[in-house]
Amino acid sequence: MPTKTKEKKSETEPTRRSFLNILWLILGGVALAEFIAVAFAFLRPRKSKARGEDTDPIITAGAVERFNPNSVTAFVKGKFYLACLEDGGFLALSRTCTHLGCSVPWIEKEMKFACPCHGSTFDITGKVIDAPAPRALDIYPIAIENNIIKVDTRRPIKRSTFHFDQVTYPKKTV
Ligand code: FES
Repeated sequence: MPTKTKEKKSETEPTRRSFLNILWLILGGVALAEFIAVAFAFLRPRKSKARGEDTDPIITAGAVERFNPNSVTAFVKGKFYLACLEDGGFLALSRTCTHLGCSVPWIEKEMKFACPCHGSTFDITGKVIDAPAPRALDIYPIAIENNIIKVDTRRPIKRSTFHFDQVTYPKKTV
């Protein structure tokens, strides 16, 4: 009797082993395919960059008349806010908090920027109202040509606080 069982076992053993081998091969193949797909996605250039879109660091914000005094407009492209001050001057403010770098939303009804991370607040000029932010929001250079506002987002300018010489005014037409 024991010899019969042994014989049966040896008959089924190769089948089970070969099944496991095939299973391992399939799993290995799936893992390899996934690895290749991830590597390909990582190395492939982004569509917009490949077409040369959205890479211009000079953002055209629009005509001066488009912006009301005492208003803030968010620009997703360029990641900045354009603040039109009460006197008609403009500031392009970085949306990055100067404390630890969180993105700071503009709270229109309170007329201030309020960082959701640690509670810093900034006024419409980017000046700190409430700490822990150590300094005002960074600004970007603005050029107004033919009444069109352009913001250079290449390098944010660090500043301790707000000064009126940071404001850009449209040229007065006579
Ligand atoms: Fe804005 Fe800390 S990151 S208050």
